[in-house]
Amino acid sequence: MAKKRSQCRSKSCVRSRKRRIRVDNKEVLPDDNRQNNSRVSVFEDYLYVQNWLFEKEFYRFLSTLRRPLPVCFRIRDNFEDYGFQQLLHEERAHDQARQMPGGAWQLPSSALQAYPRIRQWLSTQTAQGHISRQEFVSMIPVLLLDIQSHHTVLDLCASPGSKTIQAVDALYANTTTSEQQPTGFVMANELDPRRAYVLAHRCQATLGERMKSLAVVNHNATKFPNVLAPLRRISSSPKERPFDRIICDVPCSGDGTLRKDTKVWRTWHPSYGIQLHALQVRIAKRGIALLRMGGMMTYSTCSFHPIENEAVVAALLETGCVEVVACDCVRSLKGIRRRQGLTEWKVLDDDCHQVASHSDRPDWPSTLWANRKHHRSLQRCIRMVPHDNDSGGFFIALLRKIQEFPAIGGSDAKTEASAPVAGMVTPQAEHHKLFPVKDHNEKDAKVFTRGPTGKRQFQIANSLAHCLTNTPGSDKINLVYAGHNDEKMVAP
Ligand SMILES: C[S@@+](CC[C@H](N)C(=O)[O-])C[C@H]1O[C@@H](n2cnc3c(N)ncnc32)[C@H](O)[C@@H]1O
Repeated sequence: MAKKRSQCRSKSCVRSRKRRIRVDNKEVLPDDNRQNNSRVSVFEDYLYVQNWLFEKEFYRFLSTLRRPLPVCFRIRDNFEDYGFQQLLHEERAHDQARQMPGGAWQLPSSALQAYPRIRQWLSTQTAQGHISRQEFVSMIPVLLLDIQSHHTVLDLCASPGSKTIQAVDALYANTTTSEQQPTGFVMANELDPRRAYVLAHRCQATLGERMKSLAVVNHNATKFPNVLAPLRRISSSPKERPFDRIICDVPCSGDGTLRKDTKVWRTWHPSYGIQLHALQVRIAKRGIALLRMGGMMTYSTCSFHPIENEAVVAALLETGCVEVVACDCVRSLKGIRRRQGLTEWKVLDDDCHQVASHSDRPDWPSTLWANRKHHRSLQRCIRMVPHDNDSGGFFIALLRKIQEFPAIGGSDAKTEASAPVAGMVTPQAEHHKLFPVKDHNEKDAKVFTRGPTGKRQFQIANSLAHCLTNTPGSDKINLVYAGHNDEKMVAP
């Protein structure tokens, strides 16, 4: 984004200008009922000092953040809308609904009060699994990955699972008959065992039979095991990495979710992003290592913080193993306003004072600071700003692997088993081992029980079953749940 103006951005000038604007321009900056002045102003000061929006736009941005989010949902079937457009017609509510790419619809939150039949429709269709409630900006990573039915997909940080469900639906997008079952699968990983269980439960409730193509696993993404390529590629290149597509939606400071999670106003501080930066880089590097050559990965956060966004992408570009793919002409984002990634940013401490270089804070990672090398590539990243599409904030970079990542083999192998994380319950992996049910194979799936004496049987798509049981490294996978079973899930 180009520089907009040359006013002084020192802390005191910023504060006095903001006070002035508040007095002069009440309609631009609404009353925000703030509970804790200091925290809110740190967030505002931080973004203001970063200088990436016009002055007036900046206050539109803040005022949008204080309005409730619209309702957004995705219709999961490509060929059916479950009567939604007819209902809009009957209720004369066409002007309320905005159709978004990827089968998504957005309605102002006030529409739920004004149109009880639409509210009822939403709750019925959600309960029946026909629609998935998800913010549009959060759908963009999966839309950009253009997942096909033969793709093997890894969702590295998956809970609560909206992108996982979207990715499984994408595998099935063109399957109208049982003859056209996908040959790919999705593996959804989550570090926190409780959140992994929530993920498995939500997916099972929504995906039904499509659970055949999903495994939920529990690892630290920075040490995700090195399983080798399953089934169809194993004969051609046994050393090939398994994943065609990776969703890398990392833990972040979450300031892009301020519209739905107002506590972020009070808890946000600049060093939160700085603390997360190193973890985000490590997770994303592991993703690149696991990606096949030419495969695609999205790196995304729901944060505005350049340290968690462009600075991480710059660190990945520094490896020489990925390039940022331009998304200018992608059909999946047609009609959606979006902005380029930043090429410059300031590293600020908790008082919003600039830290000019790494030598001033050698204890912080050197990758926090912008360098001129990657300007063009960083511009290809996508920033979603709330007042452009009445959405939350989001950042996405679509990356293509162009060179093998050296760290995955050899010395790195030692770190691949997941170490237990302090304070977390380690799942009992033996409960989740798969035992094949002899002579009981469906056409496109194998049947397993969990544990040698397990009674419940699970159908697992052939390629996923092969990856979980037969490929080199599959014994290291810490399985939480896989496959389709008609009964309700019980807690592990
Ligand atoms: C931003 S959320 C993911 C949201 C999810 N992709 C979705 O669309 O519903 C990040 C998740 O990563 C998990 N997480 C944090 N550190 C992790 C790590 N080292 N490895 C794997 N998952 C991690 C968090 O517990 C959290 O559930």
